[in-house]
Amino acid sequence: MSVRIIGTGSALPQKEVSNEDLARLVETSDEWIRERTGIGSRHISTGETVVSLAAGACKKALENAEKTAAQVELLLVATCTPEQGIPCAACQVQSILGAENAVAFDLNAACAGFLFALHTAWAYIEAGIYQNALIAGSEVLSKIIDWDDRGTCVLFGDGAGAVLLERGTRPGILGFVQHSDGTKGQVLQCDSRKLENPYISESQYAPYVQMDGREVFAFAVRQVPACIAEVLERTGLTPDDVDLYVLHQANRRIIEGISRRLSVDMQKFPMNLDRVGNMSSAAIPVLLDELHRAGRLREGMTLVLSGFGAGLTYGACVLRW
Ligand code: COA
Repeated sequence: MSVRIIGTGSALPQKEVSNEDLARLVETSDEWIRERTGIGSRHISTGETVVSLAAGACKKALENAEKTAAQVELLLVATCTPEQGIPCAACQVQSILGAENAVAFDLNAACAGFLFALHTAWAYIEAGIYQNALIAGSEVLSKIIDWDDRGTCVLFGDGAGAVLLERGTRPGILGFVQHSDGTKGQVLQCDSRKLENPYISESQYAPYVQMDGREVFAFAVRQVPACIAEVLERTGLTPDDVDLYVLHQANRRIIEGISRRLSVDMQKFPMNLDRVGNMSSAAIPVLLDELHRAGRLREGMTLVLSGFGAGLTYGACVLRW
């Protein structure tokens, strides 16, 4: 028995915003952003929502896998920027798709959200509870960004990616590791709803992303290679056995740091952050979809997926395509 990805899809907002566009909003430059992050432009919502983007990505993943929405048994949406607290985004996506037989719920592990949702779905399928799962990572980060803060507004983009997982016989997911460190939550945070009720006079409220960029950078370069080494050891593989490392797309320099620590050539680290920025939980499935559609994923290839972000949360997965 194995659990495999059998379809991928993605959806991005129509509007593209370049570094030059941002330089008209805050004191920054194309040169600074490219040099420090590798980002050149990103897609920003002018009306697209977490739900509409996730539904678009899911439809494409279903078409790609040649499955119908009615066949889906589990539907997970990883997001930290839902439009509504209730109902959850996954139930709204279920309604749009007509996936009436699916159990649907959301999962929030910030930028590691897609990976944590993939692990959750894998565990359900491995346990024999469901035969398949549709998993989306979808974010409209532009609504939680302080557009006056040049330290964060240049980093993020909006979008969604999705995969369909299915129980099968050919090798698929080989292993997973996940970690969380709640003691470091303050390095990347954003409040949701303000506490307001007749029994309170005033409450603290910080509705936009606040980040200690250097701390986040150091955490990623230290923990991600360790986490990848851990999952490879668990599956009896070495870094050289891996054909492609599909990592969370936060910063080119973070990915370069990880490649150095693993002593793996940068050629094995595909990137799209120059065109889409950091899309949190959508980053890995969007990149996976681009690679799949470009014909860069061949049967039998070994991939490592790894995500990291607020929480702090991080994890890695090894799979055979
Ligand atoms: N344009 C121009 N200058 C900027 C700028 C911008 N967009 N953002 C910050 N600066 C300035 C700072 O004000 C600072 O100026 P000062 O020296 O006069 O005080 C200078 O650039 C250096 O700032 P610093 O924060 O030390 O830069 P850095 O090299 O650490 O790069 C990040 C900043 C945010 C790009 C980097 O820390 C990073 O990518 N961290 C990880 C963030 C991340 O990926 N978060 C999501 C994880 S899921």
